[in-house]
Amino acid sequence: MQARIAAINAMEILDSRGNPTVRVIVRLDDGTIAQASVPSGASTGEYEALELRDGDKKRYGGKGVLKAVTNVNELIAPKLKGMDPSRQGEVDRTMLDLDGTADKSKLGANAVLGVSMAVARAAAQSCGLPLYAYLGGAGARRLPVPMMNVINGGTHADNSVDFQEFMLMPHGAPSFSESLRAGAEVFHALKSIIHKRGMSTGVGDEGGFAPDLPNNEAGCELIVEAIKAAGYAPGKDVAIALDPATSAFATDAGYDLAKSKGGVKNSAEMTALWEKWIGDFPIVSIEDPLSEHDWSGFTALTAKLGGRCQIVGDDLYVTNTRFVARGIKESASNAVLIKLNQIGSVSETIETIEMCRRAGWRYIVSHRSGETEDSFIADFVVAMGGGQIKTGSLCRSERIAKYNRLLEIERELGAAAQFESPFTTA
Ligand code: PGA
Ligand code: ZN
Repeated sequence: MQARIAAINAMEILDSRGNPTVRVIVRLDDGTIAQASVPSGASTGEYEALELRDGDKKRYGGKGVLKAVTNVNELIAPKLKGMDPSRQGEVDRTMLDLDGTADKSKLGANAVLGVSMAVARAAAQSCGLPLYAYLGGAGARRLPVPMMNVINGGTHADNSVDFQEFMLMPHGAPSFSESLRAGAEVFHALKSIIHKRGMSTGVGDEGGFAPDLPNNEAGCELIVEAIKAAGYAPGKDVAIALDPATSAFATDAGYDLAKSKGGVKNSAEMTALWEKWIGDFPIVSIEDPLSEHDWSGFTALTAKLGGRCQIVGDDLYVTNTRFVARGIKESASNAVLIKLNQIGSVSETIETIEMCRRAGWRYIVSHRSGETEDSFIADFVVAMGGGQIKTGSLCRSERIAKYNRLLEIERELGAAAQFESPFTTA
C-alpha cells in the first residue's frame, strides 16, 4: 500500500452510559481520514486488558480517559507516523512493544484499541474497500445470526433478575434482514405482554426490558410467549440464548441468586439448573454458565450439556489466546465470545478467532454494555465469518447502528450474501 500514516489524534467522547471513552482519528498522507470509538464493559472479566481511566474524582467521578488520550497523541502517534496502515500486525505489534506490559496497562487498552481499529478503517478506505472486505477478503459474505438481548438483569439493570441477558436468536430465518425483522417483531410483542401484566417496560443498558420478575425462569417464559404472539415457532424460528454472566454473583459461598432471592447454589447445582432450563425452554446457547474461576465446573458442564447446547466462555477467556488454549485443552466449552476491547487490538483478536477455528469451536463477535455509534463489529463479524453476533436489543441507537450496518452489508453483497443457522448445520 502506498499511503502512509500522517497523523493520529485522540479525543475524549461519551459512551451510551454517559461515561467517557476514547475516539481516535487517523489521517493518511493520501488525504484519507478515518475514526474509531472504543466500547466499555460493566461485568468485566478479571483478566481483561486494562481500560485506562484517570482516577481524578473531580472529573466524571474518576472515569475520565484523558491519560489514554494523551498516550495516543504523545506516545503512540509519533511511533506510528510514516508506517504503512495496511500492515495491521506490524502497527499493533509496535504498540504492544511500546506498552511492554501483559495487560496494556501502560498505554491503556482503550488507547491501543482505538488506534488499531482506526488504522484498519483508514487502510480499508484508502484502498477503496468496505471494512468487511478489507479485513475478510473476497470470501467474506456470511451475515451473522444475531443474539438480541431483550430482557436485562444482573449488573445491567436494577431489577429482581439475577441473570444478565435473555436473548432472542432468530436462527430459522432465511436471511439476516428477515432475522432482524423477526427479532424486532418479537421485541414489540414482548413489550405489550410486559405492559399488559402491569410491569415496567423501561430498558436496561443494552436496550432489553428490565421488569421485576417473580423469578429468573419468568424471563424465558415471557420470551416464549412473545415468540408465539409474534407468530413464530419457539426453537424452530426463534430460539433463546442466555448470558447469565455468573462471575458477577459468584461468592466464596457459591452462586448467590440474591436479586431474585433464589438462594446460594454450588457449581453442580447451577449445572443442574441449566440442564433443567435446556429441557424446559428452547435454549441453544449459554454464555458464562459458571464463573471465570470455575474451570473444572466448566469442563464437567460442557461434558454434560455441550452436545445439546452451545457453551460460550466470555469472562473465562477474555478473548485471550492464553486462556482459550487452556479451554481447548480442558474442553471447558465449545465456543468463545469475542470482544476486541478485552484483548485490545485488532490483530490479537483475529489470532484468538484463528485459534477457535483450528479447534473447530464457534465464536461470537460481541459489543459491550457501554457502546458508541461505531459499528466496527458489524463489519468485523462478516469479515471473520463466524456467523453469530451479540449486539443487544432492538432499541437504542448504539445497538441499532450495528444492525443497520449489517443491513447495508447484506444489501451490498446482494445474491452473494450467505445466512445460515449455526445450529441446524452442526
Ligand atoms: P459487559 O457485558 O459488556 O458489561 O461486560 C457483556 C457480557 O457480559 O457479555
Ligand atoms: Zn458475557
